[in-house]
Amino acid sequence: MLLFKEVERLQLYLEKKRKEGLTIGYAPTMGALHQGHASLIKKAKLENDICVCSIFVNPTQFNDPKDLEKYPRTEGRDIEMLVGLENDVLFYPTVEAIYPKGINIPTFDFGQADKVMEGKFRPGHFDGVVEVVHRLLDIVQPDRLYMGQKDFQQFTLIQHMLNQMGSKTALMVCPIIREKDGLALSSRNVRLTAQNRKNAPIISKTLNQLNDWMAGGLTVKAAEKKAIAQLSELPDFKPEYLEIVDGHTLQPIEKMSDTDYVVVCVAVWTGEIRLIDNVILKK
Ligand code: PAJ
Repeated sequence: MLLFKEVERLQLYLEKKRKEGLTIGYAPTMGALHQGHASLIKKAKLENDICVCSIFVNPTQFNDPKDLEKYPRTEGRDIEMLVGLENDVLFYPTVEAIYPKGINIPTFDFGQADKVMEGKFRPGHFDGVVEVVHRLLDIVQPDRLYMGQKDFQQFTLIQHMLNQMGSKTALMVCPIIREKDGLALSSRNVRLTAQNRKNAPIISKTLNQLNDWMAGGLTVKAAEKKAIAQLSELPDFKPEYLEIVDGHTLQPIEKMSDTDYVVVCVAVWTGEIRLIDNVILKK
C-alpha cells in the first residue's frame, strides 16, 4: 500500500494511473476503521483498478469540540487493516493540506434536506461534511465514491452535491454492517459503557418492528411515538429524534403510501455517546 500525506504527490500519482486508463474507487473515512469501512474498501477494490482510502478527522464537521477531542484515533491498527484488505493507496493528510489558506468551496442548495434530523440537531455538521467531501473529491477525482447507508442523510446530501456539480463521479452506497446482535458498527461504539453496549441492540430492533406495527394498524405518527417510548424506557437512553421520512427528500411523511421510498432514521444518546441508525422500510 502506498501512503501519501501530500496533496500534490497523490495527485501526480493518480494522474499517471488515470492516463494508463485505470479506474479509481474512493472511500473517505475518519479512521478508527471497522468492518463497516472495510466493506466499502472491498467493494471499491472489486469494482475499480485502484482503491483509494483517506483517513482525515475533519475538524469542521464536529459541532461538539468534546466529540472531536474524544474521537478515537487508531493509526497503527487502521494501516494494518488497510494492508490486510490490500487497499492500494492511503491518503493521510494534515488539516493544513486539506484547508490551505484561500481555499474556496462553493455552496450548494439542499432545499430542506439538510435542515432536518442530523442537520437540525448538529448545526453546522453538514456544512463541514460537504466542505471536506468536496475538497477530497477535487483532490482524488475518483470514478466511483463509496459511502455507507449508515449515514443516510450524509450520502443523500453528497448525491445532491454531485448532481448540482454535474460531477462524473458515481456514488455507490453500501449496506449497513452490523454486529451479530444488530448494533450498527460505528467508531464511537468503543466508547459505550458495558451496560449501554448490552442494551444498544434495542435501537435496530425497534426500527425493524415499525413495519409490523404499521401493518397491525398504527399510523406513521403513532408508530414513531411507540418507538420513541420503547427506546426511552432504558436507563441512560435518550432518543433525540426518530423520524419516518421520504428517502428522496428526507421530509417526514404522514402515510406509507405518500412515497415509493421510506426510511426511518434515529439518533439516540446512550450516556455521553450519540448513536445513529436507519432502516429502509420501503423501496
Ligand atoms: P466515517 O464515520 O469514518 O465513515 C466513513 C464511511 O464509512 C461513511 O461513508 C460511513 O457511512 C461508512 N460507514 C460507517 N459505519 C458503517 C457501517 N456500519 N456499515 C457501512 N458503512 C459504514 O462518515 C464519515 O466518516 C465522514 O463524515 C466523512 C464522509 C469521511 C467526511 O469527513
